[in-house]
Amino acid sequence: MHVDVAAIRDRVRARVVGRERELDLVLAAVAAGRDILLEGPPGTSKTTILKAITAEWGIPLVFVEGNADLTPAKLVGHHNPARVLREDYSAENFTDGPLLEAMKTGGFLYIEELNRAPDDTLNTLLTAMAERRITVPRAGTAVAKATFRVIASMNPYDNVGTTRLSTSVHDRLCRLAITYQDAAAERGIVALRAPVTSLPSPGLPAPLRERLMADAVALTRATRAHEDIRQGSSVRGAIDLTLVAGQLLALHQQRDGSTPEAAAAYQEAIYDAMTIALSGRIFLDETVAATPEQVLRAIWEDYYILRPAEPG
Ligand SMILES: Nc1ncnc2c1ncn2[C@@H]1O[C@H](COP(=O)(O)OP(=O)(O)O)[C@@H](O)[C@H]1O
Ligand SMILES: [Mg+2]
Repeated sequence: MHVDVAAIRDRVRARVVGRERELDLVLAAVAAGRDILLEGPPGTSKTTILKAITAEWGIPLVFVEGNADLTPAKLVGHHNPARVLREDYSAENFTDGPLLEAMKTGGFLYIEELNRAPDDTLNTLLTAMAERRITVPRAGTAVAKATFRVIASMNPYDNVGTTRLSTSVHDRLCRLAITYQDAAAERGIVALRAPVTSLPSPGLPAPLRERLMADAVALTRATRAHEDIRQGSSVRGAIDLTLVAGQLLALHQQRDGSTPEAAAAYQEAIYDAMTIALSGRIFLDETVAATPEQVLRAIWEDYYILRPAEPG
């Protein structure tokens, strides 16, 4: 099957902020017929990239979450027990699981947190990847369409561990490590996901809105560098921080931050919004006795009081 990878790449780029290199690498690997492991923390564009590629390629994206409950029967599919009692086993009373669905439709099977799936499920998956076909007792054999791929993801901060997967799993997958984007790209994402129309109007003049987005990105990024935090917040936190702070500023009828009083009120609104947008998205080191809110307050003070002149 011929795929015009360059044409797909150009269309995919229009849907994703930055990530040119990652897009090229994922596209090259899937065009080469390979399966991939994407290794990166939550919120680093993994789903965005896969959605854009499959949409432009015109194939399905089938999601499945890797966890202890993902048995081989859940991944492949199962016979309807009630119908089996009435009719005995047959292909007709078999319900396809995500693996069979992706194979039959030629889609990408996207398994998030692959390292959390049980070993027998991983073995089933490896067999399907190697043979590009699967035989289910009393349901028949399905041959995968040419565009079927397995894309797995893994969070390097996951305490179930990146070493849990056996070397035989790693040996069958290409791997791409994905890290956080730079501040400019994250501001671009926030502008896209928290657009002017989503913020209250009137109430937020353009300069204040610009400052809000820049501060939200800088403060969110600071959670990733703080010594007390094991895993900081992704850009999802910056998006929510912008949206919540925008609503708070409108509630308080904040028009600008030009007077010292207005600047202080703006900064307090940002802290309040941080507690709701970021406190559940940061994971403290086990040895830290402070609360997430206290650590966020320290980040906030560092940003607004100790280093006020430093841009985000
Ligand atoms: N490069 C990007 N371009 C546009 N939006 C992005 C980008 N990266 C992340 N986002 C946005 O940030 C959020 C999280 O991204 P997502 O792709 O779901 O992350 P992941 O799948 O790695 O957890 C989504 O709202 C998504 O729209
Ligand atoms: Mg995702």
